[in-house]
Amino acid sequence: LRSEALQELQQVADPGQLNELRVKFLGKKGALTEILRGMGSLSAEERPVIGQVGNEVRGAIEVVIEEKQLIFQRQETENRLREETIDVTLPGTKPAAGAVHPLNKVAQELEDVFIGMGYTIAEGPEVETDFFNFEALNLPKNHPARDMQDSFYVTDDILMRTHTSPVQVRTMKAMNGKTPVKVICPGKVYRRDDDDATHSFQFNQIEGLVIDKNIRMSDLKGTLLQFVQQMFGKQAQIRLRPSFFPFTEPSAEVDVTCVQCGGDGCRMCKQTGWLEILGCGMVHPRVLEMGGYDPNEVSGFAFGMGVERIALLKYGIDDIRHFYTNDLRFLSQFARM
Ligand code: PHE
Repeated sequence: LRSEALQELQQVADPGQLNELRVKFLGKKGALTEILRGMGSLSAEERPVIGQVGNEVRGAIEVVIEEKQLIFQRQETENRLREETIDVTLPGTKPAAGAVHPLNKVAQELEDVFIGMGYTIAEGPEVETDFFNFEALNLPKNHPARDMQDSFYVTDDILMRTHTSPVQVRTMKAMNGKTPVKVICPGKVYRRDDDDATHSFQFNQIEGLVIDKNIRMSDLKGTLLQFVQQMFGKQAQIRLRPSFFPFTEPSAEVDVTCVQCGGDGCRMCKQTGWLEILGCGMVHPRVLEMGGYDPNEVSGFAFGMGVERIALLKYGIDDIRHFYTNDLRFLSQFARM
């Protein structure tokens, strides 16, 4: 039995077979157990002899089984290690990383410039009342200047805001007559325009508002020059052209030297050397009044610009619709900038 068992054990190839053999020789119904169980029928002299031999055989078989088990365990560990080996020299698969949208990037840059000058950010609702969007900005009902900003109306009195200027009024009201006021107001605005290369029914603006004692037009001009040079480079210059907005007096439109040709004249600036970037002016006394300020005590300036327009100029993009159509070939160019 012993040599039979040892021989069979030498040939086992896997842990399953080993277990079968253990049951076969040592199990409850195993061959050795059978023999030891039969000892009752033996004589008193035979019993210890057979018992001893039986135990020796059991011991020998157990030793071999243990050895085999150890071998199998070691093999299994080795196999697992081999399977789990990682070749660190293989090139990896790059995870697809997103990036900040160029419009948000430009908006953040604009915000950073003004935050650096001590401005804080104010926000207001995109669905606005006629009062904040027009009335309190010196644009009474039937005022012809309302035509400059054709609107989407929700009801007679509620509309999608056509500019970020209502946040000027909301800020003044919230400040309750306190000075200084120094905010920028970024956000989406809506106009009933047909979409084309330079127009969109929805776009982004950033508004600026400063109110304090003795704020003058020169403060506005200095602020805008500082802003433009940080945004477009130290060589950038500005010029103010007289203009009209009902909520500012005097009003101006601001041009910056063409970022493409530096002022020499090219296609981008239609050979003028200048690009229009924003509207601004001194806050109209009636607007200050409606906002809860005494125009004899304080004065202020305001400006408003389109984020898309700044982005188009900064990156030399020819069609505003690129910003909204989410073509990755377009968007991914800004991921690395
Ligand atoms: N709200 C004006 C527009 O959308 C821009 C502007 C803002 C002009 C502030 C003057 C002062 O066209």
